[in-house]
Order: sequence, then C-alpha cells, then structure tokens
Amino acid sequence: MQITRTIPDLRAALAAHSGGGRPAFVPTMGNLHDGHIALVRQARPLGEVLVTSIFVNRLQFLPHEDFDSYPRTWDADCARLEAAGCDIVFAPRERDLYPEPQTFKIQPDPALADILEGHFRPGFFTGVCTVVMKLFAAVLLPSGGGTAVFGKKDYQQLMVIRRMVEQFALPITIACGDTSRAGDGLALSSRNGYLDAGQRAQAVQLAQALQALAQAALAGGTPLARLEEQALQALAAQGWAPDYLTVRQRHDLQPPQAGAAAGTLVALGAARLGGTRLIDNLEF
Ligand code: PAF
Repeated sequence: MQITRTIPDLRAALAAHSGGGRPAFVPTMGNLHDGHIALVRQARPLGEVLVTSIFVNRLQFLPHEDFDSYPRTWDADCARLEAAGCDIVFAPRERDLYPEPQTFKIQPDPALADILEGHFRPGFFTGVCTVVMKLFAAVLLPSGGGTAVFGKKDYQQLMVIRRMVEQFALPITIACGDTSRAGDGLALSSRNGYLDAGQRAQAVQLAQALQALAQAALAGGTPLARLEEQALQALAAQGWAPDYLTVRQRHDLQPPQAGAAAGTLVALGAARLGGTRLIDNLEF
C-alpha cells in the first residue's frame, strides 16, 4: 500500500498502479471504524486501483465544532486499510489540498443542502462539496473518471454528492454502502468515541426513535408533523437535545406527498447526547 501526500505523488502512484484502468475511491476523514472498512471492501472490485483518502476537512466544520479535537488515528487507519486491500492512501496535508485560501467553492442547491444537516450546520455541504470536488479532481478525473463509494449513514451527504455529480455531468459513478451498526443497533460513527460508558449504552435510542417514527408513519392515521413532534419530545425526555427527527421522500428529502408509498421514504434524525451530536437514518 502506497501513501501519498501531494497531488503529483498521487498521480504518479495512480499511473503506476492502475494499468490505465479507472480507480475506485473511498473518501474519509480517518479514524476508521468497521463502517469505513465495509465501504473499502465494497469498493475493492469497483476499480482497477483502490484509493482511500484521509483528510479532516476544515471547510466543513463550523468555528465551534470539533475540527481540532476530531480523532486522528493515522497508524491504526493505515493498518486497517492495508488489511482491507487498499492500494493507495491519499492523505494530503492542509497545504497540499488548500495551498491558498479556497475562494472558489461549490454552492449546492439550497433546496437539498440548506435543510436538515445544512440548516443546523450552515455551510456544511458547501465545505463537503468543495473538498469532494477537489478529491474527485485529484483521484478520479486524471483517469477519466471512476467510482466513488459513500455510506448511507450520511444520507443527505450522499444525496447532495449524487446531485453534484449529475449537475456537473462528472464521469463518476456514486455507489452507496449500507450503514454498519454495533450489536445493539447504534450506527457506527467516529463521533461515538466521544461518548462515555453511560452515554454509549443510551446512544441506540436515536435509532430506536427513528424506528418508532417510521412505524407510526406507516401505520397512518396521525399527521406526520404530530408524529415528528411526539418523537422529538420522547427523545428529549430520555435526556437528548434533538435537532430534528423527520420523515422525508428519499429522492429529494422533501416532506412526503400525501399517499407516499412505503419503500420511498426515509426517517432522518440528529440529536445531541451530552456534548456529542449523532445522526442516523432509516429507509422504509
Ligand atoms: O463523510 C465524510 O467523512 C466527509 O464528509 C467526506 C466525504 C470525506 C468529505 O470530507
């Protein structure tokens, strides 16, 4: 497994490994857990050469968020990637990816990107799209395109990136990986590491709240807005500070049309437990 820091070094490594074929690519911010590794294994057969990036992207953090304390676990990440069959790690330093202030940015469609996560984390998807476009330009575009794998755990991110690729007609296929969960049902996330033992035992309540909301929505008879309000109150009563718990259409994340069919919906939630903000979702 080759480790590259700069875009020229990455390109040389790609040329040496790919034999002219297209890469498969998994972008990450490191602190890799089993969910990331599942995406890497999924990506393995999707390209001639498998690239994983590790880069904690300052642009997608608000000033009060955890950019500085975001866990950086370089040695463990490399060991896991090597075992998973990764060919090239692209781990740029900040000066490699942002050699000067990034004044050109990708502004995603507000109808998709300023709701839910984007409402509570303004500018988040501008930061995500901008770095992902730069990573695509570094990793995939020199080979004329390829496949990038994103997890459904970050459901809205997946939808935003898909739309970006469509709108810019990028020669890139976006594949998605299912959310990996711990034995109790908690979605795997780097931020789970912030939870103390008591919070960790409690953390599955977010997934349970989404299951209950989805079941109630399927049962019908009560307006969705009322069900969402009840779900928020129930989670708050368990000691959480919820940002949103909501049912949306999968394809555009807008509130469902009357009579929307099962199999087209997704329940999404974000809530804070102590100082830790967790997100999760459930398709139904
Ligand atoms: O999902 C993530 O880890 C990040 O948002 C991504 C896609 C690597 C961009 O920084």
